[in-house]
Amino acid sequence: MASPVRPAGIVSIASHAPEKVLTNFDLEKMVDTSDEWIRTRTGIVERHIVADHECTSDLALEASRKAIARAQVSPDEIDLIIVATVTPDFPFPATACLVQERLGASRAGAFDLQAGCTGFIYALTVAAQFVSSGAMDTVLVIGADCLSRITDWTDRTTCVLFGDGAGAAVVRPVEAGRGLLAFDLGSDGSGSELLQVEVGGAKVPITQEMVAQKRQFISMSGNEVFRFAVRAMGESAERAMARCGITSEDVGCYIPHQANLRIIDSAAKRLHAPTDKVIVNVDKYGNTSCASIPLAFDEAVQDGRIKSGDIVVCVGFGAGLTWGSCVIQW
Ligand code: UT7
Repeated sequence: MASPVRPAGIVSIASHAPEKVLTNFDLEKMVDTSDEWIRTRTGIVERHIVADHECTSDLALEASRKAIARAQVSPDEIDLIIVATVTPDFPFPATACLVQERLGASRAGAFDLQAGCTGFIYALTVAAQFVSSGAMDTVLVIGADCLSRITDWTDRTTCVLFGDGAGAAVVRPVEAGRGLLAFDLGSDGSGSELLQVEVGGAKVPITQEMVAQKRQFISMSGNEVFRFAVRAMGESAERAMARCGITSEDVGCYIPHQANLRIIDSAAKRLHAPTDKVIVNVDKYGNTSCASIPLAFDEAVQDGRIKSGDIVVCVGFGAGLTWGSCVIQW
């Protein structure tokens, strides 16, 4: 990989989850499931769910306000806002524009980026290119999703998995040797039907018949996605690490997409990552899609598990199918 014109990195990170908590015991009352099944098959104990009046831009805004305050950046210093999401407030306009207006980021360009649950890694990588090239100084990267809005709450095979949340990072020039050291992005559209929302786009418009069949919600081939995820996360992280010449011994911590504890454990084993170096909070949030990596990243920075100078490997997978990794020197 060519050396960047100037190093770019995350100078602050923050997150936000809605107040309402839905526990496995609550789900026991909604579908034929059990706390024991959910814990042992997924590692999830509870998840946060938006209130009726909340949506993706609200969560994104809260996380963004915290991130820019921590970076001591004023809204009018932001050059670009990228929102990674699979649950935008509207098909259009972009959720990023709604955040731009509410933040008062008067100079910022704004767009949404869709790469399934890998969206935050894609967005971070895109942001770093603008900053590395010298084209921009300050990019706000947000991963935000309200999966609860596209979940069939009568389908036990999916509804136990998902939650809502947001994370935001400010990307700016950083000192030499710091920031984004390497990345890996990939996709395989042949797996597009394994994880999708089939209805509501240009191909299959929403009709009463589609709604009656509940085809506007997430559908997923869980076992196949599981197998893909373990392989893709392992391979992608290995590629990114090789590109900047580091091995597992150099890594301070891994931040995997928080979809399922068994997927995280299997990928960690493949990467020879000791358990204490793998950040896990899927128990508290479930799978929050684009928010999952920044939620875990923020938690680990705030509680001191990530310290200045540590090498952090973020790795994700998602609908598309997509995968991606970033190696960051914090
Ligand atoms: O961001 C990416 C999003 N997607 C993912 O990450 C999903 C990846 N896949 C997975 O995490 C796992 O495949 C699941 C958690 C979705 C499922 O776990 P599994 O160990 O692959 O279970 P399974 O689908 O093989 O189902 C085992 C059994 C089935 O019953 P039978 O056929 O063996 O009698 C299911 O009907 O468990 C049953 N089952 C449930 N039982 C209680 C499925 N969901 C539930 C449930 N509660 N919620």
